[in-house]
Amino acid sequence: MTTRDDCRELDRSDPLRARRDDFVLAPGLIYLDGNSLGPLTRSSHERVVATLDEWAKGLVGSWNAAGWMAAPTRVGNRLATLIGAAPGEVVVADTLTVLLAKLLLGALDLVPERSVVLTDAANFHSDLYVAEAMARRAGRPVTLRSIDRDTLEDELSEDVALVMLTHVDFRTGEMLDLAGVTERVHAAGALMLWDFAHSTGAVPLDVTAANVDFAAGCTYKYLNAGPGAPGFLYVRSSWQGVIENPLPGWLGHARPFDFERDYEPAAGVQAFVTSSPSVIAINALDGALDAFEGVTMDEVRAKSLALTDLFIELVEARLPGVFAVITPREHARRASQVALRSDHAYGIVQALIARGVVGDFRAPDVCRFGFAPLYLRYVDVYDAVEHLVAVIEREEHLDDAYATRNPVT
Ligand SMILES: Cc1ncc(COP(=O)(O)O)c(C=O)c1O
Repeated sequence: MTTRDDCRELDRSDPLRARRDDFVLAPGLIYLDGNSLGPLTRSSHERVVATLDEWAKGLVGSWNAAGWMAAPTRVGNRLATLIGAAPGEVVVADTLTVLLAKLLLGALDLVPERSVVLTDAANFHSDLYVAEAMARRAGRPVTLRSIDRDTLEDELSEDVALVMLTHVDFRTGEMLDLAGVTERVHAAGALMLWDFAHSTGAVPLDVTAANVDFAAGCTYKYLNAGPGAPGFLYVRSSWQGVIENPLPGWLGHARPFDFERDYEPAAGVQAFVTSSPSVIAINALDGALDAFEGVTMDEVRAKSLALTDLFIELVEARLPGVFAVITPREHARRASQVALRSDHAYGIVQALIARGVVGDFRAPDVCRFGFAPLYLRYVDVYDAVEHLVAVIEREEHLDDAYATRNPVT
């Protein structure tokens, strides 16, 4: 079994070890919830303060002088490199569910002769709600079919207009085959929309090589942009000018300050912007992206797999039979989190938090642990498992204080 000394050695030779200093993390805290809300980066903090200063001093003039209006595409272009997109294919705006709504309705208009949207029955609930609602509003009868994703191949009939899947399962951490699934969907004549909530900044993505049509993601998880930070949307360049934003607003207009009566979409992905950009929040993301500068996603991936391998190894060695590991073992199917199933999952997560090890609980019975390679150390993984052993051995999870769930779990 890997020892604590082995972990210290791994940390000493870790090419990403200096990145931890970019983050604001309390001493002693082991943060395994970056798959829900990433921690603040120093750079993001500075960028927000600088933006407040632009507001204080420059007032309305900062829309021009500080380049505020271009923030959605400028920061979108930075983010594009993390998903394998070209400049001009990504824009930062809205939040993920809203972006999915725009892409769902926009994409459905592109295939008027088809009438089915396929999605995964285990998809994130917000994705299911919005897909169902948009199917109802498609302007023609469209049915949403929620399927077992393993049966996708059989479900791909000539009625299918669009397939919407989340690349990494929010509960289990299972990662789907981006290029393989997209290719099968295209072979059936349908369009592909991916949700990258648990992928961006966690695993290497190449939307260009995978020939993805549309994608959207959030920025508050592995990208560390802050609570409720804006999302991002990807529209492949060949669809730009073809797909329409179903929620047009003045800032997606070709000439917003001409105040024209009729809508004419701006060129490129800017057409998917509806409203004024949330400049402070977008600049928080801009700062947070500094942590990825000079780092390749292959380096991030190598360390992520080493961390999740280590966690699984230690949990199984130290707590045999206590948990079912519901995250796939195969590297190709595992993203950057490990999910453990237990009847006492909520209490276990809360007892760990009381010990300074922060993970989260996902109903009905999952303890979820995210492993963000930019700030986590191997020794953190070792210590987290030791805390977990102590919680179980001392039955701390059975404390009455954990009998009632907090609103956010
Ligand atoms: C897979 C997935 N899709 C969608 C969402 C919803 O994101 P938002 O609250 O930004 O709309 C989340 C939020 O965690 C998510 O995990």
